[in-house]
Amino acid sequence: MKISVIGAGNVGATCADVIAHRELCNEVILLDIKENFAEGKALDMWQTAPVNNYDTRITGVTNDYERTKDSDVVVITSGLPRKPGMSRDDLIATNANIVKSVTENVVKYSPNTTIIVVANPLDVMTYCAYLNANLPSTKVFGMAGILDTARYKAFLATELNINPKDIQGMLLGGHGDTMVPLPRYTTVSGIPVTELIAEDKLNAILERTKVGGGEIVKLLGTSAWYAPGAAAAQMAESIVRNQRRLFPVCAWLTGEYGLKDIYLGVPTILGTNGIEKIIELKLNDAEMKLLHDSAKAVKEVMDVLDNMGK
Ligand code: LAC
Repeated sequence: MKISVIGAGNVGATCADVIAHRELCNEVILLDIKENFAEGKALDMWQTAPVNNYDTRITGVTNDYERTKDSDVVVITSGLPRKPGMSRDDLIATNANIVKSVTENVVKYSPNTTIIVVANPLDVMTYCAYLNANLPSTKVFGMAGILDTARYKAFLATELNINPKDIQGMLLGGHGDTMVPLPRYTTVSGIPVTELIAEDKLNAILERTKVGGGEIVKLLGTSAWYAPGAAAAQMAESIVRNQRRLFPVCAWLTGEYGLKDIYLGVPTILGTNGIEKIIELKLNDAEMKLLHDSAKAVKEVMDVLDNMGK
């Protein structure tokens, strides 16, 4: 089993590190455009193997896509991160060029791979990869929902002073301020969260979740990496181990939820074939409206990409 991570910046390096620690494959290729950057990071990571007792071999390369040949999964993290005051959509022009050329290079050497996109604006960069990959949409999708639900669950765990492992949550929509957290589908070991938390406190957490990425950007001056990197690795895990886990994933819709020709976050089952299934929840009218509002916001940015001709 082989996984390649494109981009050795903070998100890519974290993702490769988590993949290796979990021994998800025999070989991880970490690729970056900057001379010696991936080599240095990979070497440092590989030197943790004897300490942390794993044997996944990590190799860093500079722009040498041939070394990614026959990857089972490729995680694309390339692109600029946000700076304070920027929305994810502000990154579109720069990151579309990057994601297009990265995708073309990836599929040249791994024409049957499964691609997980992490670059922002997430939903639209996933679309960009799909347009350039010549792969079925079940094999090109984006990481956002695991990250956004992780933030939601972490905030709840802190507020309720309970173990984050016991929290189950679902969230739909685009990876932006229009994302749709679903309190109705949130439980703590099967108990509806609404029985455990006051409505105003829950609402505050829902709002904080929506701008969870921005909160980190304000604190650090750049966007997050530990949670995004780990979330992408968790998707790779479900694929390479055929775990068939049910995660919110940025997926190509063909009529589900009354939406089509759009990449949007929905619950999916991830396994060997990539997206094995998209789950359609029975949303109420209010939830459905929020999802369609989110779709509209994503579609506007997809149109910008279409007009750029990428
Ligand atoms: C975030 C970026 C990675 O949400 O989109 O932190």
